[in-house]
Amino acid sequence: MTTARTIIEDRTLLAERLADARSRTDELFDLLAPGALHERPIPERHRLIFYLGHVEAFDWNLIPRGALGRPSFDSAFDQLFAFGIDPVDGGLPNEPASDWPPVEKVREYNRRAREAVDRALDHAGEAAPELRDGTLIQVAIEHRLMHAETLAYLLHQLPTNHKRPPALVAPPPPRALKRRMVRIPAGRAALGLGRDTAFGWDNEFDEHVVEVPSFQIDLTQVTNGGFLEFLRAGGYENRRWWADDDWAWQSRRPSQNPHDWLRRSDGWYLRGMFHETQLPLDAPVVVSLAEARAYARWAGKRLPTEAEFHRAAYGTPDGHERAYPWGEDEPEARHGNFDFHGWDPAPVGSFPAGDSAFGIADLVGNGWEWTATTFGPFDGFVPFPFYAGYSANFFDGQHFVMKGGSPRTAACMLRRSFRNWFQPHYPYACTTFRLVTR
Ligand code: AVJ
Ligand code: FE
Repeated sequence: MTTARTIIEDRTLLAERLADARSRTDELFDLLAPGALHERPIPERHRLIFYLGHVEAFDWNLIPRGALGRPSFDSAFDQLFAFGIDPVDGGLPNEPASDWPPVEKVREYNRRAREAVDRALDHAGEAAPELRDGTLIQVAIEHRLMHAETLAYLLHQLPTNHKRPPALVAPPPPRALKRRMVRIPAGRAALGLGRDTAFGWDNEFDEHVVEVPSFQIDLTQVTNGGFLEFLRAGGYENRRWWADDDWAWQSRRPSQNPHDWLRRSDGWYLRGMFHETQLPLDAPVVVSLAEARAYARWAGKRLPTEAEFHRAAYGTPDGHERAYPWGEDEPEARHGNFDFHGWDPAPVGSFPAGDSAFGIADLVGNGWEWTATTFGPFDGFVPFPFYAGYSANFFDGQHFVMKGGSPRTAACMLRRSFRNWFQPHYPYACTTFRLVTR
């Protein structure tokens, strides 16, 4: 990534993108009712106040302190807010809210950190190559945008009276799509990113070609209506559909149904970001990988591999590959439910302009899609020297690749090579699925 290009050429654009990313995270904290910052909406994660400090401490630790060697003005906060926690089965954090510093102290730290980052960008031309070529600023921008997504799903779990709904954008009317599968002929999928190209995270390198045998894939994601059939058929009670550790996990949960489904005397409801609604049968179901693979066994099918997803999303009948399912155009609102336009998944098939060359709907946006592929390094993987654990800490066989994107995924991370990952027993991120068969 060390190209001849220097930050001087891109500085204005990168500074604008960083400012835009900052307004994304600021907006989310502005949705909170007073006092909500000390809540912990997801038991496995930090209290919200951690994220308030984290997005600023990260940039400060990376650029002024890390790349330019500026001295700390608060080394305790630099450490406290440096890294989050990965949710693991069992072992929940249980420190009291009073262990965290008062909000005003964090806000003061944040003001100083931002100022220092802005001043550092003015000196970027004289610094280490990763800073000169813009890589570190891209890391700061995308890291923050990922947290804008993480924060959105943390806030999703917060009771409605702790947040204030912004104006809602109505999704376009859905097409009536039949549930069916589409045949993808055998062909090649180019995974990863070439070293001579623009920014990518360490796990996106190197580029390589995979031969993918022919398969069939669902035209749309599995919907709430489809998943209801599994539930009504006793899917959650029948051990044979579940892998042993998935069964152990789901048996311990307070209720045996998708996490945001709410059972009421008059039927199923869905916990949306700001409102509860009757269960929208035509929207994709949001579930953990454990639930997705139990459904797959019940249906006699399986989850796609990362390479199969690529082939369905970016391949074409004539053997070429595209930048996006719809072609080469940069992502726009008409192509799918992403880039912060909405808060919750829309009915499947709502964005015909985003169909792939094989005619498959919603492969990018409207929910990340689980794959059967364990998150691991591509050949040629080199950890980022300035953030060695970003990906490598998760090459543990316990995390799986997700592709596509959610309503809260920024457009810049919809690039073909971007890889997301989570644990199989994590039901909170906007994770959906579709199935494949021979
Ligand atoms: C790539 C979304 C799985 O949220 O755990 C943010 C991104 N890493 N800060 C996560 C991340 C460190 C990461 N995911
Ligand atoms: Fe982070």
